Parts: sequence; structure tokens; C-alpha cells
Amino acid sequence: MTQTHQSEIQQISLLTNSTEIVDNLKNIAGAYPGQVIFSTSFSWEDQVISHFIFNEKIDIQVFTLDTGRMFPETYSTWSRTLEKYNRPITAYYPDASALQDFIVQKGPNSFYDSVDNRKQCCHIRKVEPLQRALKGKKVWITGIRAEHSPNRNDMQQLEWDGGNKLVKYHPILHWTTREVTGFIDKNNIPYNPLHDKGFVSIGCAPCTRAIRPGEDFRAGRWWWEDAGKKECGLHVHEAVKN
Ligand code: ADX
Ligand code: SF4
Repeated sequence: MTQTHQSEIQQISLLTNSTEIVDNLKNIAGAYPGQVIFSTSFSWEDQVISHFIFNEKIDIQVFTLDTGRMFPETYSTWSRTLEKYNRPITAYYPDASALQDFIVQKGPNSFYDSVDNRKQCCHIRKVEPLQRALKGKKVWITGIRAEHSPNRNDMQQLEWDGGNKLVKYHPILHWTTREVTGFIDKNNIPYNPLHDKGFVSIGCAPCTRAIRPGEDFRAGRWWWEDAGKKECGLHVHEAVKN
């Protein structure tokens, strides 16, 4: 990490209990007004972070990438979150003509046919809208947890995202599943009911299934592909020192 990037993260400590995370979020929001953003997929990890932000009315923009292919349960979790907190969630959508061209050319479910098609679909529905959401921002907060995939195990809470040119901060990277669910229960936070049916990591409906006991947490995502290819391009990891 260069000197400049280092100075951008001075406000962020790496403590991980909920009070410390809330203080951290307040400090970052205060240091970079209007330039801190949190992405939610309405997973229970993301619901924990939304709770921190909404409950404390911290000035951090919360947004979701609505791919158009999400589960009905995800949309209902989104609605229940709006009802509970009465705070705005910005939605970003795929570019209409790029999506139209892709679907007309390849059909609605071409992601099952090849990794290239799958990556193209993820690019149109997630990556390009994400780039729009992150434009002009300094800090991007996510709900990533290390338990979620082997290549997230060696991740740091702070990363430099060279592609999007900002700092990424994963406040609950080291929380266990039990800590996440305990926090959700204790605070009566709405969560995606699919989590109770064996869904751990929840993405688009055609590309996510429940996992069986003992299976890797990410086994339910793009299950027809090799394990090594299972990232959609939202998160490109560049290891940096904390
Ligand atoms: S992915 O790379 O496989 O799609 P994953 O589901 O593990 O991501 O989620 C990791 C983090 O990425 C979430 O905590 C959230 O911050 C962000 N994220 C994933 N999907 C979305 C989405 N549709 N909208 C907004 N943020 C998302
Ligand atoms: Fe398309 Fe599946 Fe990627 Fe969603 S997860 S954007 S449906 S390929």
C-alpha cells in the first residue's frame, strides 16, 4: 500500500466488537463525508452492517446491485429492512441496452453453458453497475467473512482495490457464523429466510443452491463450475498489510 493509500485509512481501526465497529464507521463517515459506501446483498452478514449504519443513523450510503435475478426472499428481506429502519437503500441496475443485447444474443440462461457467458452475465448485472456505484468514493464497506471461501481466509480487514481505486473495509471479516446469527437474534434484525433452509452465501436465484452438511460454504454458488472460478468479479483481492 502506498503512502497515499495509507493516509486514507488512518481513521479505521481493526477492532471487531460491535461497539468498536460502530465507532469506526462513525469516524470514517466523519472523515470522508459523502464518500463512504456500503454494499448489501441482504445476506445476514450485510444485515448486521446495515443495522449498525441505520440504527445509529451513520452517514454512509447503503446500496444494492439489483441483478433482476434475485430470489423472491431477497426482495422481501429488502422490503422488511426498509420497513424496520425507514432509511434509504439505493439500487443500481444493469445497463438496459447491454443487458438487452446479451439476452437477445444468448438467451436468458446462457450462464449454464460456459464460464465466459457466466462472467459476461455477472459483468453486466453486477460489475458494471458496481463501478458506477463506487465512482468518486473513498471507502467501500462489505460484509465479507473469511469463513465464506478459502481464498478469503488470508484476506485482511483493509484492502486497496486498485481497479476501483479505493479502500475496502470488511468490518466483520473475522466474525463466526454463530456471532452473526447471535447478533441478528439479539437485535431482532430481519434476515433472508433462505438462511434457515441451508443457503449460506446467497446470490442470484439461478446460480445459488443450498449446501449440504459438511460442504464448503461456497459450494452452493455456481455449483456447476470448477471451485477455482467461483468469483463474479465484484471482489478482486489484492493482499495488503494491515
Ligand atoms: S460475491 O462476490 O460472491 O457475489 P458475496 O455474495 O460473497 O459476493 O458477498 C460479499 C459481499 O459483496 C457482500 O457482503 C456485499 O457487500 C457484496 N455484495 C454481493 N452481492 C451484492 C449485491 N447484489 N449487491 C450489493 N452488494 C453485494
Ligand atoms: Fe448472471 Fe448468475 Fe452472475 Fe447473477 S450470478 S449475474 S444470474 S451469472
